[in-house]
Amino acid sequence: MRLRLAGAVLLSAVAYYVYLPLPSGVSEPWKLMLLDALFRSCMQASDIAHALGVCHRIHLLSQVVSWVEVIEARSCPAVHVTDSTLGGVPTRVFQPKGGKKLKRGVIYFHGGGWALCSGRMRSYDLLFRKMAEDLDAVIVSVDYRLAPWAVFPEQYYDALAASRAFLSDQVLERYSIDPERVCVSGDSAGANLAAAVTQKFALEDTMRVKFKAQALIYPVMQALDFHTPSYQQNQAVPILYRPIMARFWLQYLGADSSLEPVLLANNHSCLEESSLSAEIRSKLNWTALLPAKHRKHFQPVVKKTGSPGVVKKVPGLLDVRAAPLLAEQGVLGRTPKAYVMTCEFDVLRDDGLMYARRLQDAGVSVTSDHYEDGFHACMVFAFLPMMSSVGQRSMNNYIRWLDQNL
Ligand SMILES: *[C@@H]1O[C@H](CO)[C@@H](O)[C@H](O)[C@H]1NC(C)=O
Ligand SMILES: *[C@@H]1O[C@H](CO)[C@@H](O)[C@H](O)[C@H]1NC(C)=O
Repeated sequence: MRLRLAGAVLLSAVAYYVYLPLPSGVSEPWKLMLLDALFRSCMQASDIAHALGVCHRIHLLSQVVSWVEVIEARSCPAVHVTDSTLGGVPTRVFQPKGGKKLKRGVIYFHGGGWALCSGRMRSYDLLFRKMAEDLDAVIVSVDYRLAPWAVFPEQYYDALAASRAFLSDQVLERYSIDPERVCVSGDSAGANLAAAVTQKFALEDTMRVKFKAQALIYPVMQALDFHTPSYQQNQAVPILYRPIMARFWLQYLGADSSLEPVLLANNHSCLEESSLSAEIRSKLNWTALLPAKHRKHFQPVVKKTGSPGVVKKVPGLLDVRAAPLLAEQGVLGRTPKAYVMTCEFDVLRDDGLMYARRLQDAGVSVTSDHYEDGFHACMVFAFLPMMSSVGQRSMNNYIRWLDQNL
C-alpha cells in the first residue's frame, strides 16, 4: 500500500515536471514535452553545478551531450566515415562508396548556440549518412570551437577556414567532389555561420570555386530585436526559450551575461542608440518584411529610452559576420540560391523568414520551407529514439531540395 502510494506520488511528480502547456498545432506535443523535460533537467543540473562553483554551466552541459550523443567514426557498407581536419579545424567526413566518380559536396555546421553539441553526434551522424547515400554526396561536418572557451569571431574564423579549405582544388580532388556542385549548410547557430561564410565568399572575386547553394535550417540571424512576433509568440515554447537565446548571444559575443534583461527588454536597440541608423533598422523591420499571416496581432517593441551604449560595448551586435540579417542588399544579391527552413513554434522563425525575404528582394532564388507544426531543432529528431513526424518530414524535404538543386 505504502509502495503504491509512493509510486503514485512519484508518478504525479514526474508528470508535473514533464507536463507543459503547449500551443495547439505543435507536432506530437508529448514527445516535445519529454524532450523538454530532458533538456530542462540537464540545464538545471548545470545551473546548480555553476552556482556551487563546481564548473561552468556550459561545461557540464557539453559533458552530458558528448557522453550521451557523440559517437566514433564508423564506416558502413555504403558510407566511408573518417575524422580529419580542414583548414586546421576538426571535421568528420562521410563519403559514399561507389556511385558516380564525381560526387556532390556539402559542408555542414551543427547547431547548439555556438556553445553546445558536435558534428560527431549520433543524430547528425544518421542525417549525414542518409545524405551521403541519397545524394551520392560527400558530407563534411565541421567541429568549430565553442563558447565560452572560444567567442566571436573565433567560431566564424573556424567556419571560414574550413570552408576555404573545402573549396580548394586539393580537397575537392582528394574527395572526388565536383566543383560545380558544392553547397554550404547548417542548422540554428550553424546556419548563422553558414550564412556569414556565404556572404564573405560572395565578395571575393578571385575565388575559382563558389558554393552553388546555401541551405539554412532555422537560422539565428540577429540580436537587435528580441520581440519579433515569433519571439513574442514562442517565448515559452520548448526547446529554445527566449531567455536562453539571449544568453547564447551574449556568450557568443563575449559579453557580460548580466546584459540578458537589457536584451530581452530591447533596451539595447532603443531609439536613443544613435549607432542604429534608420538603414540598419530597416533590415530587420518585420512590420515591412513579414506577411500579415506571421505578423498576426503582435506589435513592435521599440523603446524610446533604454541602454544606449550597449552596442558600443558589444560591437558584435552590429557585425554582419555575427548577424547576417544586417548585410547590405548588394552583398545578399551575390549569394547563391537558397533554401531556408523555418518552424512556426520557434523563436527564430522570423529571423529565418526575414532573411529569406531579404534574399528574395536582392534577387536570389529562394525556397522558403515553413513547417506549421514545427519546433526549433525538429530536423535532428528524425530518427529513433527521438523520432518525430515533423522531424522526418523536414529532413526528407531538405534532402529532396538538395537533390533537385545541387
Ligand atoms: C518599418 O516599416 C513600416 C512599414 O513599411 C514603416 O511604416 C516603418 O516606418 C518602418 N520602421 C522602421 C524603423 O524602418
Ligand atoms: C529598460 O529601459 C526602461 C526605460 O525605457 C527602464 O525603465 C527599464 O528598467 C529598462 N530595463 C532593463 C532591464 O534594463
